[in-house]
Amino acid sequence: MAVCKLFSSLVFISMYVTCTFAANAKYNIQSYGAKPDGKTDSTKAFLAAWAAACASTAPATIYVPAGRFLVGSVSFGGQTCKSNAISFQIDGTLAAPSDYNVIGKGDNWIKFERVTGVSIIGGTLDAQGAALWSCKNSGKSCPDGAATLAFYNSNNVVINGLSSKNSQKFHIRIDSCHNAKLQAVKISAPGNSPNTDGIHVQSSSGVTILNSHIGTGDDCISMGPGNSNLWIETIACGPGHGISIGSLGWEEQEAGVQNVTVKTVTFTGTENGLRIKTWARPSKGFVKNIVFQHAVMSDVQNPIIIDQNYCPNDQNCPHQGSGVKISNIKYQDIHGTSATEVAMRFDCSKTQPCNGITLDDVNLTYKDHPAQASCSNAGGTSSGLVKPASCL
Ligand SMILES: *[C@@H]1O[C@H](CO)[C@@H](O)[C@H](O)[C@H]1NC(C)=O
Ligand SMILES: *[C@@H]1O[C@H](CO)[C@@H](O)[C@H](O)[C@H]1NC(C)=O
Repeated sequence: MAVCKLFSSLVFISMYVTCTFAANAKYNIQSYGAKPDGKTDSTKAFLAAWAAACASTAPATIYVPAGRFLVGSVSFGGQTCKSNAISFQIDGTLAAPSDYNVIGKGDNWIKFERVTGVSIIGGTLDAQGAALWSCKNSGKSCPDGAATLAFYNSNNVVINGLSSKNSQKFHIRIDSCHNAKLQAVKISAPGNSPNTDGIHVQSSSGVTILNSHIGTGDDCISMGPGNSNLWIETIACGPGHGISIGSLGWEEQEAGVQNVTVKTVTFTGTENGLRIKTWARPSKGFVKNIVFQHAVMSDVQNPIIIDQNYCPNDQNCPHQGSGVKISNIKYQDIHGTSATEVAMRFDCSKTQPCNGITLDDVNLTYKDHPAQASCSNAGGTSSGLVKPASCL
């Protein structure tokens, strides 16, 4: 009955639902001392609500009401949780402290580790990264910065309707997870904010990202080593560096990336569109069975690009070419405008040439001139209309 009382101010129908399924325990963070005033540190209240939800044997909801809650670095561990269905239902905003050192000296602002069945529904995360970016851009010594929201070693994760803005570094990181679904996510940071990748996925399988808007100063979505069975659909990307598989091949012993589908994406004014990028270093990594389908490019500098000669400042690469083997990559129905003459570039490894690239129905234009394609060490086939003409 405590549950019913807590929600007595809600309309009848939700009281009815709440009381009928009273087994679903609700934990309002204000009951644990959090204040929606934007200045009271609510970190401990979040941890206390988590401890209660985690101990629940029934599905549990942590409720964050409207308002602005100040939260420092926080880590939600799931190893000892009884509940395997904990949902954060967020109407308000979680804001990081204005002093960037408070969260910026750690790797993550809001971290989940070894959780199963955690959902984050709605809400806004505001990491207030601007002061750290200007520190970094001025060349002073500053902390590396924190990812806004990170999941490690977790299963059955849902992120639905969340907004994340002005991250210090990555906005969302999915690392060593199995089965995650991100939907209707809105990510925004200015185009000149350093390392503010939208969603970074690595060492994970079964990750789906749908219906999301991402505009940042780095990749909209980046996929690191060890990923399989990823599905990315209906994404608006820009500003930013595009959707990237990579950088890969830094390590010699590195897990590959396979079975990734990226479809129905618009790129607006981005540095890249669909990119695969590897270091020019020896590696046992690979990229295979990738589908890029239905993309619209609008003023994109490198709409289609494979770059296996990544080596900034020519440092740390022993001039051997990349060891990452790239094969079976399909581009289908890719249209729009390139902001540079070379709209399609396959710059593959001299030691591990790309093979099985297929182009089907590609039409990329550059101003009033025909765009160009550039290939090295790349093999494959083309069908349908392909403009610029294939160089495979
Ligand atoms: C590829 O990944 C999708 C999910 O994105 C999955 O449904 C499909 O079964 C996977 N295919 C293979 C061959 O594993
Ligand atoms: C290719 O795209 C250009 C620019 O959008 C368009 O004018 C042209 O008709 C297209 N070509 C074909 C064959 O569809």
